[in-house]
Amino acid sequence: MNNRPIGLLDSGVGGLSVVKKVLQKMPHESTVFIGDNANIPYGDKSQADIIDLTRQSVKFLLSKNVKLIIFACNTATAAAMATIQREISQQIVGVIQSGGLLAAQTTQNKNVAVVATNYTISHHAYQQEINFRDPEIKVTELAAPKLVPLIEQDANEATCLEAVKSTLAPIITQKFDTLVLGCTHYPLIKAQFAQTLGDKVRLVDPADQVAQYTANVMERDGLLSTADNRPTHEYYTTGDVAMFNELGSKFLNDPAFKAQHLIKGEDY
Ligand code: DGL
Repeated sequence: MNNRPIGLLDSGVGGLSVVKKVLQKMPHESTVFIGDNANIPYGDKSQADIIDLTRQSVKFLLSKNVKLIIFACNTATAAAMATIQREISQQIVGVIQSGGLLAAQTTQNKNVAVVATNYTISHHAYQQEINFRDPEIKVTELAAPKLVPLIEQDANEATCLEAVKSTLAPIITQKFDTLVLGCTHYPLIKAQFAQTLGDKVRLVDPADQVAQYTANVMERDGLLSTADNRPTHEYYTTGDVAMFNELGSKFLNDPAFKAQHLIKGEDY
């Protein structure tokens, strides 16, 4: 048993969609989350830059004595997880492996679409993961760089719905029965995806599987917290705290949500 916190990172508020699932699955666990909002979007950056930024967030989480780290960011998982896992002894859990597995298990007609950032799509991270599970699955990939800024700005539902509709327009007539929300921001506007696609398409949120996988790994490695642990949850952002708090309390349904500001080079 181990009552140290789980660390989670993302480029922004999107990772809170993973925090939510982790808290639901493992209510005894403490967490520390860092959103690198000062450097969002990661999805338009080079691999070297994403590795560099992710490494700094990992360094901060390690200073908080975390026992395991979840990359609650598909882009960081695709670009930096393999490199950084070689540098630290704590286990890293990414979101793409879980999302790929869930997609392969969900599709009935072996036809899956993936929406994600430019980086994740151009490196075919999901296509490789899904076809590793089942080479016969057709995977249609679509970059959706317009959505993350809207979510970070807390754009209203109608604006998000229009953006989702125009994003999906190029693939809407295709026969996929499963759509992977391949960026941790997108589950925060899942309702708009559901409204656009209707009930014939199943939406895959990798975080559902990530929470289960993390629980399995922690049980295997004796890392679960004790049942009497009184969990604490710390949130940090390198960006605007007021905005982060507004979004955080909305997405986690917690009016008391409070993040702290981090300054790169000073605090970590
Ligand atoms: N939330 C990140 C992801 O899952 C992407 C946002 C960004 O482009 O920084 O890929």
